[in-house]
Amino acid sequence: MKKKLIAGNWKMNGSIEANDALVRAVMAGLAGADCIAAVCVPAPYLSQLQVLRHGSALELGAQDVSAHEQGAYTGEVSAGMLKEFGVRYAIVGHSERRQYHGETDALVAEKARAALAHGITPIVCVGETLAEREADRTEEVVKRQLAAVIHVNGHCISEIVVAYEPVWAIGTGKTATPEQAQQVHAVLRSQLHAATPHSERVHILYGGSMNAGNAASLLAQPDIDGGLIGGASLKAPDFLQIIAAAGFSNA
Ligand code: 13P
Repeated sequence: MKKKLIAGNWKMNGSIEANDALVRAVMAGLAGADCIAAVCVPAPYLSQLQVLRHGSALELGAQDVSAHEQGAYTGEVSAGMLKEFGVRYAIVGHSERRQYHGETDALVAEKARAALAHGITPIVCVGETLAEREADRTEEVVKRQLAAVIHVNGHCISEIVVAYEPVWAIGTGKTATPEQAQQVHAVLRSQLHAATPHSERVHILYGGSMNAGNAASLLAQPDIDGGLIGGASLKAPDFLQIIAAAGFSNA
């Protein structure tokens, strides 16, 4: 059985001082953890957190990546630049970027391509809004979002990570039930299965108000291979409890 992957998404939080304390506390509690752990940090802090580059028990991730290689794209950060800082993962298509920055399915697919070209694993986020769920459109929406990424990256699709993050569960304290999440994860798994013989290798993470209390029951589902953790990744004890739950569900 593959190890679970627990990735923290700090979003636009942190400071040099707070990052130092948080990373020290997480690293100190990681000994013996039976899962893959990572934190996706704001780009300016990548240089501060070089202790997490290659081979660290806690790996380094970014929250976004440009679809472009280099040039006149003010404010963008390329995959090549992230690679120089030892970045192992890059979130692409987070719902906050789709919603506030107008990112389309096609752009998200190009961002995944750029990451893969530099040996960075894209964590591709998909998920429906509350209105879409209530209109019974969940499957259609997540399949459309993933299909765009498969279309552009089909040849190496087993190299991506997928994160199912229902928009209505993000930062709201409302979590999908394990059954609701598993149902969508199974849909995504079968979509990957149709695209690659190696679909079992792909980590499909759940994200959206995952915390120390609900992690174990979510991670026990057959197609939930880990979590993408927002708020709870900013508190070392909570993040470590989720990591411990991931190891336990591997046993
Ligand atoms: P919360 O865990 O704060 O709900 O955020 C989830 C998320 O968006 C992770 O990318």
